[in-house]
Amino acid sequence: MAEIPEKIASAASGGKPLPFAQFMALALDCPVCGYYEKEGDSIGRHGDFYTSVSVGPLFGQLLAAQFAAWLEAPPLAASPPEAPLHLVEAGAHRALLARDILSWLQHHRPKLFSRLEYWIVEPSARKRTWQEGALAAFQGRVRWASHVGQAADGGLRGVLFANELLDAMPVHRFGWDASRRVWFEWGVTLQDDRLVWARMAPSFDPAPEAPPELLGVLPDGFILERCPAAEAWWRGAATVLQTGSRLLTFDYGGREEDFWRPERPFGTLRAFRRHRQQPDLLSNPGRQDLTADVNFSRIEAAGLAAGVTTETFSTQQGFLTRIAGRIWEGQLAFEPWTTEHTRQFQTLTHPEHLGRAFRVLLQRRET
Ligand SMILES: C[S@@+](CC[C@H](N)C(=O)[O-])C[C@H]1O[C@@H](n2cnc3c(N)ncnc32)[C@H](O)[C@@H]1O
Repeated sequence: MAEIPEKIASAASGGKPLPFAQFMALALDCPVCGYYEKEGDSIGRHGDFYTSVSVGPLFGQLLAAQFAAWLEAPPLAASPPEAPLHLVEAGAHRALLARDILSWLQHHRPKLFSRLEYWIVEPSARKRTWQEGALAAFQGRVRWASHVGQAADGGLRGVLFANELLDAMPVHRFGWDASRRVWFEWGVTLQDDRLVWARMAPSFDPAPEAPPELLGVLPDGFILERCPAAEAWWRGAATVLQTGSRLLTFDYGGREEDFWRPERPFGTLRAFRRHRQQPDLLSNPGRQDLTADVNFSRIEAAGLAAGVTTETFSTQQGFLTRIAGRIWEGQLAFEPWTTEHTRQFQTLTHPEHLGRAFRVLLQRRET
């Protein structure tokens, strides 16, 4: 029992199994025992995994240059000069990306910077304190909201973005019972002081639209993950966008068909600790990262249902290369390009590093 935080042990020791999604939410974001609440670095060389931000400031600098171009173009540029323009970031964690973006804009676009409100959507009080410390130099320019509907006072003119937010949201994990041709859900229960998997009735039908021919050949135990939390988050985010504003995310993931590939019968959930994938999703709760691929078909559909249109769905390589291409052709103002920029750019875009696994979805409110 010593290995399992009290909160998780008690949630998993009720009469019924705890749906994996609830276990994951507690293991990652519980204010008492959550992985993302622990003081030490979880991201970067001394942590458990890298993000594009750990590569260096270039990721934030390229985004800042692109954001500036969007904010300085119509229709946003046509808004009255006294009206603020917004950059809203969710999942900012230690606010390193915010720092890179704000520093770049302050130095390279001072006029735009002076009318900018940078909002961070952060439900956690502890992380907000970390972020306030990291952004002390930008006091007065940064504001916080605990949920997306509160950001930019509910009317966002600008860009709402996140790097690896959706792939950290809690997923439901379903299994296929081939003999009965039904889905069950994987839950978690406490047995002899250990967390173990338990089958339970599904919280919802994960694939009402799946063709019967496909279900007919699905192997017994095939795993399918669904993340209603990410879809609801995206829908809510799309709702606060004013005309001409954009919604952007960078995450691991793929299209709906990628989740049905026969070579991936065990789903996409993974645990990481000290840069190594861990064999057991249930061990060390609160001390290892848990992440699952984002289903971009479903995220995109959530945005479309909320009235935004898709501008881009691409790899990180494609997205960042288009920004850099405009810089190299002189269409987008940037500082002189150095060998250090090239080094970081290669890591961010090389298919064997971060370039192919990360996908980018960009949607926009037209009217
Ligand atoms: C993988 S980390 C993000 C990494 C960071 N953006 C970077 O680029 O280095 C995911 C972060 O999102 C936070 N998070 C999870 N759900 C959230 C939500 N609904 N709103 C805001 N942040 C959330 C997590 O607690 C964690 O701090």
